[in-house]
Amino acid sequence: MGNTIKLAVIPGDGIGKEVVAEGLKVMDAALAGSGITIDKTEFNLGAARYRETGEILPEAELDSIKNHDVILLGAVGDPAVPSGVLERGLLLKLRFSLDHYVNLRPAHYYRGVPTPLANPGEIDFVVVREGTEGLYCGNGGAIRVGTDQEIATEVSVNTAFGIERVVRFAFAQAAKRRQHVTLVHKHNVLVHAGHLWRRTVERVAEEYPEVTWDYAHVDAATIYLVQDPARFDVIVTDNLFGDILTDEAGAITGGIGLAASGNINPDRTFPSMFEPVHGSAPDIAGKGIADPTATISSVAMLLENEGAGQQADNIRAAIAADMEERALAAEQGQPLQRSTSQIGDAIAARL
Ligand code: NAI
Ligand code: MG
Repeated sequence: MGNTIKLAVIPGDGIGKEVVAEGLKVMDAALAGSGITIDKTEFNLGAARYRETGEILPEAELDSIKNHDVILLGAVGDPAVPSGVLERGLLLKLRFSLDHYVNLRPAHYYRGVPTPLANPGEIDFVVVREGTEGLYCGNGGAIRVGTDQEIATEVSVNTAFGIERVVRFAFAQAAKRRQHVTLVHKHNVLVHAGHLWRRTVERVAEEYPEVTWDYAHVDAATIYLVQDPARFDVIVTDNLFGDILTDEAGAITGGIGLAASGNINPDRTFPSMFEPVHGSAPDIAGKGIADPTATISSVAMLLENEGAGQQADNIRAAIAADMEERALAAEQGQPLQRSTSQIGDAIAARL
């Protein structure tokens, strides 16, 4: 192939830096000899930068990030920065400015990982969460704040355009997987947005005769995720429901250090961004004990998105083999005790 991927790297704060180093190590190992090269630019953004300079995401840097093919993010956040500053000013700003309308979160259960489920079964589904609309687009306000008459609104925005593009992505994913889509909403109560979602799914489904689909109210979906998660292949849902369901999916699959995600602009008008689901974990930062697997798995998603599907599959196989090694060691009563970089080395060595 011989192409170059222009990669923007935002290691961020806390364990973000530690896990990104391992993700890049595995990326290099996976691409060795493939003819694909990576041209990396590192961006110093996050809590540390904010505390030093007061800057969150200057326009010049946003423009420079736009000039890349794709982004790898570690995590941002620090107990000393007020909640919401970086989430809104950096993460949400990137998602909205780069039109990341798909938030893609795979849920995969690896044998041996501690799970709260007695019988997890074969959990292997993806949640396609709408990323630019719903309750998260900042359409609201407050008046008489701090008084007994305070009024606060957060209005959920749902457009036919915005729903259709994410539903199309979900059906295209399902066509490549086990060919089933579940729409999750609450159209018995949220009748305006809910029926727009339902009608859109009905229409797009006609173009995918090989893909079956069903519907679950979000409250029921939270139960199915615990009782029978193997029933799901692709879940498509709005921004808020997707946020909640993906955290639940992370919990049942047992590993905050394992869950990967992609903030994707399928039209490729701006770079997509891949990141572990976890945060900067200040409680273990600097100790070299964070699990980099979620970031390495995010690197696989990133490479697949950039056309290196074979290398992505190789990384996923290496992760699965490493997870099996962990399960066997635990079964023999000797769970592996490895540092962040030892896990990165072990996965890279399989490539
Ligand atoms: P967190 O995900 O950072 O940590 C939750 C718990 O999971 C902690 O006990 C942590 O030690 C553990 N953990 C997380 N990742 C791990 C890994 N790779 N290996 C082993 N253990 C791991 O969530 P928390 O504590 O709520 O947030 C910490 C900071 O991160 C906050 O400032 C928050 O705003 C930020 N954050 C940033 C995100 C992002 O950058 N996308 C996402 C979530 C939180
Ligand atoms: Mg969340």
